Amino acid sequence: MNLSRRKTLALIGGGVILAATASLGAIATRQPRTALLPWSAAGQGADPRHRALSYALLAPNPHNRQPWRADLREAGVVTLYVDTNKLLPHTDPFSRQITIGLGCFLELMQMAASHDGQRVTITPFPEGFDDGALDSRPVARAVFTPDASVTPDPLFAHVMARRSNKEPYDTSRPVPAAAMEALAASVARGSQFGGALDDARITQLRDLTHEALVIEFTTPRTMQESVDLFRIGAREVDANPDGLDFSGPMFETLSATGLFSREASADPDSFASRSALTMVEATAKSAMGYVWLTTTGNSRTDQLAAGADWLRLNLAVTAEGLGTQPMSQALQEFPEMATHYSRVHALLAPEGGTVQMLGRIGFGPAVGQSPRWPVEAIIL
Ligand SMILES: Cc1cc2nc3c(=O)[nH]c(=O)nc-3n(C[C@H](O)[C@H](O)[C@H](O)COP(=O)(O)O)c2cc1C
Repeated sequence: MNLSRRKTLALIGGGVILAATASLGAIATRQPRTALLPWSAAGQGADPRHRALSYALLAPNPHNRQPWRADLREAGVVTLYVDTNKLLPHTDPFSRQITIGLGCFLELMQMAASHDGQRVTITPFPEGFDDGALDSRPVARAVFTPDASVTPDPLFAHVMARRSNKEPYDTSRPVPAAAMEALAASVARGSQFGGALDDARITQLRDLTHEALVIEFTTPRTMQESVDLFRIGAREVDANPDGLDFSGPMFETLSATGLFSREASADPDSFASRSALTMVEATAKSAMGYVWLTTTGNSRTDQLAAGADWLRLNLAVTAEGLGTQPMSQALQEFPEMATHYSRVHALLAPEGGTVQMLGRIGFGPAVGQSPRWPVEAIIL
């Protein structure tokens, strides 16, 4: 977690926290030791599938659950499975978002292989799928073939700098219209791109996404689903390099002083919960534009396509020097969100279809990489 989020919390918590940070010294300055190593290890290995997978696992995915598992036992083939212990049943009851994350993973795997002289042919859900739930059947079968004529995808240049930037954006810096055109051009895998830079639409979506966040935060079981995935401090992040990362001096300090914990975050009246609501309002209301992806249908293959396109869009955002954060709450299918789900669909997909992704965009501060499990951990 980077400086500006820490600053926000410092402002909320006041001098007490700053004083505590100074006196807690060694605790406050702890950094994760292993959780970020997969970023520097990407591209290594003797097997081209290994090399491609080591990039693929850097893909964006909901709550950083990293539910991907790869079977390499068949020569030249990656069979991708989902770890059904890593779903989000409350906020993502049909695993639509988890499937989108798997689509991001497959697109990044194919893109990395294209820079390694490998053509990757993907068959999604080769043994079929269930629209209601993911199961033990493969998500995709990907055949790797050496091919010197494969075209390297230029978006790959931005993989190391890509982030989901969850910080407030600079509200004095508008997003140029030309950047929006470049973002639209990056979408190529079958979903439809939408974008908005006008004030009226920005205001509408700032309010809608903020309200949806409040619903997710104040619905006990959806909030608890996030809280259970909090990794507080460097030790927890290294032990489980997935979920929601709360490392860095401010969180180490807040945790050591008892102001921030999983228990406190689950209590809507605590300092931690009130601070979190203030922070998400500040970020939601700093959106300087929006991008979204819709699909006509909503099958598993549509969701994989939306994921492939989100990865491309996220890389194109990076190429433009912008930041993006998915604002997924209003797209979630749990009953308490039904009104906001209808409103966002009436706004962004008035002709019908499913809004698969919605993200705010803007110029944000530099943020660090998020934790990942190493490639060895995802190979079956
Ligand atoms: C389908 C999907 C939904 C997501 N929804 C949200 C969201 O609502 N809020 C958010 O802050 N990040 C969201 N993210 C971003 C993830 O939290 C992020 O990809 C993950 O933590 C890894 O971080 P990174 O993208 O910076 O590598 C979403 C990502 C995906 C693929």
